[in-house]
Amino acid sequence: MTLRRPARIMVLGAGGREHALAWKLVGESGVQAVWVAPGSAGIASDGRIGVLPAVDPLDGPGVVDAARAQSADLVVIGPEAPLAAGVADVLRAAGIPVFGPGAAAARIETSKAFCHEIAAAAGVRMARSGAFARHDEALAFARELARPAHGGVVIKADGLAAGKGVTVCDAIEQAALALEAIFAIPAPAGEPDDSPRVVVEERLYGPEASLIALCDGRDALALPPARDHKRLLDGDLGPNTGGMGAYSPLIDLPDDRAEALVATVHRPILAELARRGIPFIGALYAGLILTDDGPVLLECNARFGDPETQVLLPRLAGDLAPLLLAAAEGRLAEAGIAAGIPGAMLPSRPEAAVGIVLAAEGYPVAPKQGDPIAGIRFAEQAGGLVFHAGTSPLGDDRFQTAGGRILAVVALGPDLPAARLNAERCAERVGFRGLQRRNDIAAIVAGSSASGAAPLDGPPPGATISLGASR
Ligand code: AMP
Ligand code: GLY
Repeated sequence: MTLRRPARIMVLGAGGREHALAWKLVGESGVQAVWVAPGSAGIASDGRIGVLPAVDPLDGPGVVDAARAQSADLVVIGPEAPLAAGVADVLRAAGIPVFGPGAAAARIETSKAFCHEIAAAAGVRMARSGAFARHDEALAFARELARPAHGGVVIKADGLAAGKGVTVCDAIEQAALALEAIFAIPAPAGEPDDSPRVVVEERLYGPEASLIALCDGRDALALPPARDHKRLLDGDLGPNTGGMGAYSPLIDLPDDRAEALVATVHRPILAELARRGIPFIGALYAGLILTDDGPVLLECNARFGDPETQVLLPRLAGDLAPLLLAAAEGRLAEAGIAAGIPGAMLPSRPEAAVGIVLAAEGYPVAPKQGDPIAGIRFAEQAGGLVFHAGTSPLGDDRFQTAGGRILAVVALGPDLPAARLNAERCAERVGFRGLQRRNDIAAIVAGSSASGAAPLDGPPPGATISLGASR
């Protein structure tokens, strides 16, 4: 059995995750050309990667035209917005192999209520929750969950919110304010009155982990677990962001223990989506919380994580391109065997990787633009990988800030402390006015919970939830 390798690949998107995908793919055997559409000048500063700035990633027919013009034999969709807009469906209908789910399956990310519904039907454990169309019912359920015995409540706006629709509450007053804010916004036009506006969830405690698997609608091959740092400030303080840094591997979820989670989380979800006639082809991201009672699914994303991808891809020991193509074509199991992959985990290098996000002044609320960036070259010379997320060119190979998250600086090392030190040294070489970053990425890596001893091989009895009663 031989592995089929795509020669010409188009990656849709413009951020650090897409830069990392292009960086990984362009160096692989058999790959002749990689374009990022629309990409950015920063991504194109790696002279091996092409960019297609005129492509609107939300315009399905335009993306098909661009893929045909480049004779792309694979399109990889990075961000959630084109997935939600059905761009993968348009590409698939045009006969172009695409790694990314159609709009119906991508709802697993865009609707928290749908994610709970699928997980419940699949027997995958999530936090106890209810989905509500009515403010008074949502508040009543929040009060019930916030009673001391339950220990807290989380309010999640239903729909795509770029990581900003979630409020983790210490007290019912905070939950009530979050609900008021959600119900103050008029329901989207055309939505039926009874479609859920909010998910109210039991608050769980423990370290988090991201387990992302390549999926072909039925089978799954997981990348190593990674941990994102979502809060803006050191010590997990401040507002939630898209992610301020990431690292892999995880001491409290080693690769060999993650494999069981593919069987208990990813595969049942894939089976349930397939049963409903909406097979999931793409990267299924399980956001997990490692509680004292074992791992619980917090959310699913329908794409690679950002910034997790920037630390995960440098850790992969083998080629990604043939597996993405195999997933797109529904033959992942066969390709895994051809690639010599024995189980459900992609083989990884023993080195650890740490990535530090450098964000603009004012991020995440109102990021300031246009500050010149110094030192990218020095960070690269120090051995760092610098992935561009939100930069624009200033001429002469110089860049300025043009986004919220500006750059991710990634470094490898023989173990996590060494990788962290390397990443810190590289990140310190980059500067711009108002730069915000965390100084504790990968700093707390051991002994943070009893999750190391928790069973990883399946949900406890009766753990599935039901959403029906509260709608
Ligand atoms: P989500 O978009 O659902 O992943 O939520 C964003 C972040 O909010 C997660 O990464 C967690 O840090 C936190 N969070 C979400 N749901 C819960 C929960 N049920 N218990 C505790 N923290 C949560
Ligand atoms: N890093 C979290 C996400 O990609 O949603």
